[in-house]
Amino acid sequence: MSNNPTTIGVGLISVGWMGQLHSRAYSNVPVVYPELGIRTRLVIAADTNDERAQFAEHVLGYESSTSDYNDVLNHPDVDVVSVCAPNFLHEEIGTAVAKAGKSLWIEKPVGRSAEETESVVNAADAAEVVTAVGFNYRNAPAIEYARKIIAEGKLGRITNVRGAFFADYSAEPNGALSWRFIRGLAGSGVLGDLLGHLTDLAHYVVGPIDKVTGVANTAYTERPKLEMGSGTHFDVVEGGEMAPVENEDYAGLLVHFGPDAQGAGAVGTLEASRVCVGPRAEYSLEVYGTEGSLRWNFERMNELELALGHKGPHVGFTRIMASSEFGDFSKFQPGAGTSMGYDDLKVIEAKKFLLAHVGQESIHADVHDALAANRVVYAGERAIATESWQSVEPVEGTSASTRTAADSTRRETVDA
Ligand SMILES: NC(=O)c1ccc[n+]([C@@H]2O[C@H](COP(=O)([O-])OP(=O)(O)OC[C@H]3O[C@@H](n4cnc5c(N)ncnc54)[C@H](O)[C@@H]3O)[C@@H](O)[C@H]2O)c1
Repeated sequence: MSNNPTTIGVGLISVGWMGQLHSRAYSNVPVVYPELGIRTRLVIAADTNDERAQFAEHVLGYESSTSDYNDVLNHPDVDVVSVCAPNFLHEEIGTAVAKAGKSLWIEKPVGRSAEETESVVNAADAAEVVTAVGFNYRNAPAIEYARKIIAEGKLGRITNVRGAFFADYSAEPNGALSWRFIRGLAGSGVLGDLLGHLTDLAHYVVGPIDKVTGVANTAYTERPKLEMGSGTHFDVVEGGEMAPVENEDYAGLLVHFGPDAQGAGAVGTLEASRVCVGPRAEYSLEVYGTEGSLRWNFERMNELELALGHKGPHVGFTRIMASSEFGDFSKFQPGAGTSMGYDDLKVIEAKKFLLAHVGQESIHADVHDALAANRVVYAGERAIATESWQSVEPVEGTSASTRTAADSTRRETVDA
């Protein structure tokens, strides 16, 4: 424990599911990571829905609340700002946070298009503010371990990747038409919502994707309306007024990993659906190599299936359990077998963000990673519209898994 703790003033914009989760994460960082000497002070929260603003003040413990997010930006005691608003406000608010000179933790997708994300990246770079993005799945200890053993070459040369983020949150035909289904408010459907997460995971573990093609469809073209700030996208509304669904329920991309990727030359499929019957939140990533393979599924977040080598009685997948060898697992549980949960991933994300805010080294998803994921997703959208392959413009300064120069030389020698 540090004798000289740094207190960081927190401002929150939007008090929905994610806003509440960010708040709990900020409160937990000093308890889970006392050695960092970081204290958090929940200063002010904004939501246009008065009940949610009140909830922030009276339940989450913010010192004050407001309906105008500018009050958060202008508050002198706010050092870092979480942006947990619906997607259509991300560019406007993310850019405003950067211009106000505050560190920015923004939910995914940062923009409804790669251009919107780029405008937040440019504002953050110009203001030289620290940023973080809510790609929480990369914080799962089993994913951190997967990334490590792939970087160590334990799987040999990566040949192919299969990822599927399959959810049932809108599997009911009368599932609510929240802002997520309206193009002006959300941008794309599952491409931005779930495939962005999966792309970031693939980038983090295997490396940057440089080419895509794909297909998409919409299973339910109308849904009952839901008022902004009421309920969630998991709600089912019986007998409500119907309105059109404006974006895709399913998308599948064929992808190719570029020359800088740890898995350079590998190919694969990345899929996402919000209307599956069966999977609840089955968010999976599988990586296949010449010497071994691994697969992970968020529904069994604390496990990794691993296969190493070609011979012997134990060839094939073996289930291993997250333990102190895996990422930050031991910060949450004293021993393997006792599970971490989804909220813990956000505590890790908050820790990485606050570490970067105080100027310490932190490998975490920031707005550059969000731009890299967005470019894949929107190249995918273009590819689907034009029934073609599209190349993906690379992004500098991401934390994607890239090959070192020594690695490239070694592999080129082996390949020759
Ligand atoms: N990282 C993840 O796993 C994950 C999971 C869910 C959502 N998200 C992202 O988080 C963001 C928020 O999603 P959510 O599920 O929390 O949404 P939500 O609908 O639960 O909450 C959104 C909140 O924004 C408020 N709001 C609307 N306009 C506002 C304004 N002008 N100023 C301030 N507040 C305003 C609404 O009243 C509501 O309380 C989205 O971008 C979504 O993609 C990320």
